[in-house]
Amino acid sequence: MGVKPSSRGCFGWFIVAVILALIIGAIVYTVKKKSEKSEGPAPIPGPPGAPDKKYADALKIATQFFDIQKSGKLVDNKISWRGDSALRDGSQAKLDLSKGMYDAGDHMKFGLPMAFTATVLSWTILEYGDQMDVVNQLEPAKDSLKWITDYLINAHPEANVLYIQVGDPDTDHGCWDRPEDMTEKRPLTQVNTSFPGTDVAAETAAAMASASLVFKSDSTYSSALLRHAKELFTFADKYRGLYSESIPEVATYYNSTGYGDELLWAACWLYHATGDKSYLQYVTGQNGKLFAQWGSPTWFSWDNKLAGAQVLLSRLTFLGNKDTSNSGLQMYKKTAEAVMCGLIPDSPTATKSRTDGGLIWVSEWNALQHPVASAFLAVLYSDYMLSSGTAKISCNGDSYKPSDLRKFAKSQADYVLGNNPMKMSYLVGYGEKYPQYVHHRGASIPTDATTGCKDGWTWLKSKEPNPNEATGALVGGPFLNETFVSNDRNNSMQAEPSTYNSALIVGLLSGLVTTSSVVQSFT
Ligand SMILES: *[C@@H]1O[C@H](CO)[C@@H](O)[C@H](O)[C@H]1NC(C)=O
Ligand SMILES: *[C@@H]1O[C@H](CO)[C@@H](O)[C@H](O)[C@H]1NC(C)=O
Ligand SMILES: *[C@@H]1O[C@H](CO)[C@@H](O)[C@H](O)[C@H]1NC(C)=O
Ligand SMILES: *[C@@H]1O[C@H](CO)[C@@H](O)[C@H](O)[C@H]1NC(C)=O
Repeated sequence: MGVKPSSRGCFGWFIVAVILALIIGAIVYTVKKKSEKSEGPAPIPGPPGAPDKKYADALKIATQFFDIQKSGKLVDNKISWRGDSALRDGSQAKLDLSKGMYDAGDHMKFGLPMAFTATVLSWTILEYGDQMDVVNQLEPAKDSLKWITDYLINAHPEANVLYIQVGDPDTDHGCWDRPEDMTEKRPLTQVNTSFPGTDVAAETAAAMASASLVFKSDSTYSSALLRHAKELFTFADKYRGLYSESIPEVATYYNSTGYGDELLWAACWLYHATGDKSYLQYVTGQNGKLFAQWGSPTWFSWDNKLAGAQVLLSRLTFLGNKDTSNSGLQMYKKTAEAVMCGLIPDSPTATKSRTDGGLIWVSEWNALQHPVASAFLAVLYSDYMLSSGTAKISCNGDSYKPSDLRKFAKSQADYVLGNNPMKMSYLVGYGEKYPQYVHHRGASIPTDATTGCKDGWTWLKSKEPNPNEATGALVGGPFLNETFVSNDRNNSMQAEPSTYNSALIVGLLSGLVTTSSVVQSFT
């Protein structure tokens, strides 16, 4: 009998508890809402969070393209349709230039974009190595980077000599063959004191300086890279000239429109790698005034590294050097901020170089390089803001949060991965619909076909999709009107991938795969 009242009492207490919980919940919610509105510091994220499946899957695919592009004697080859190739590259100069990576759908080794690929890959690993590790992509990325830096070390046999190209583009482009079957001549091209190449030598210095940080646990390799980087920077700085003026033939493919950006970029990487203040003085002093184009936003690309240098130097202001009296560093940060303000779609200074669907669009050839490079810089900048507790940037008076930059970066990645009017992914192997006619010799010729230089052209012209999948290739991408000609292999403007595109998309996806704070210092 006494059970009923007591049980009623329990129920009564339960109701009281529920009401109390609701009241407390409401109070907590209101307080939280208020604190979100206030201008407190941005929350600093901790170690890597749970990976986002979409970006994790895409990252695992994107890193595979580096394996497809490897030249030389392959080690632990994971690509069924690839084998050893170009084993004698460099032999006429008694050098081993067999490693490194083919540039795109062809078999050229072009020094300027290859070194840029390595620099972007190093930067990605330095900032996002912990995130890449969560999805098992750190070791593959380091392996790909080393495949390039091994080559770069051998390409620099004397202080003032750097081999910047293997293969002759006219000869190479006269053939359509698999790299494994290649018989065409592989001439070498160098820059030296009489025919200088400040741009390519400085980019190679940047690649080696940044990689020396990635490989610092292997002190012999790391210090070799750093020694090469310093020598190359001195060579680049002392013997100034555009490589495309010294060697006009290179202008058809990778024309360099300036070398000041590479000098600043290399010095900034050397500063990070050495802590030697003279490199910082180099970028903030006279050379900064001369080359940095302070105040003017530019597009980050294999040709122009200014925006990259601005973001990388902002890192110092955000996370390291709090000395606000360094006016040069402040100018770099201001310019990086102008770049960011240009990218955020609703900012008063937003760039008009966009498709209707919101993709940054600057050039018809390889259109995706600019949106992906821009989004990579945006995700880095938003993470510098978060890790330093910086709540906002100001664009002509309007404020934007780190999350606005990350949202922009995601919008570009999502476009690439299928959220676009063509409803297709431009990353080969990702999603349900992606390019099947990639302009890529190895992917287009069956492994059992025996072709020479000329009889392989039938495979370019074939109406069938590629027999081999160029997994991880990021193709050139859409026209301004957001169309893509998907059944034409000779459509190199849209359907050709490049190794440097892959470095940029790997950078972007590594930044998006999970949230975490960036490391305070690389050293
Ligand atoms: C210097 O480089 C130029 C351009 O590649 C080349 O023609 C020349 O032979 C090189 N000089 C020497 C001494 O090898
Ligand atoms: C290469 O760049 C220079 C400097 O911007 C320019 O004057 C030249 O016309 C370009 N050459 C080619 C072939 O695009
Ligand atoms: C889209 O742009 C390309 C390149 O400018 C053009 O060839 C094509 O006809 C255009 N397509 C449409 C549907 O407007
Ligand atoms: C492929 O396109 C190039 C121009 O990019 C052209 O010169 C060549 O004739 C085309 N080849 C074929 C087989 O259509």
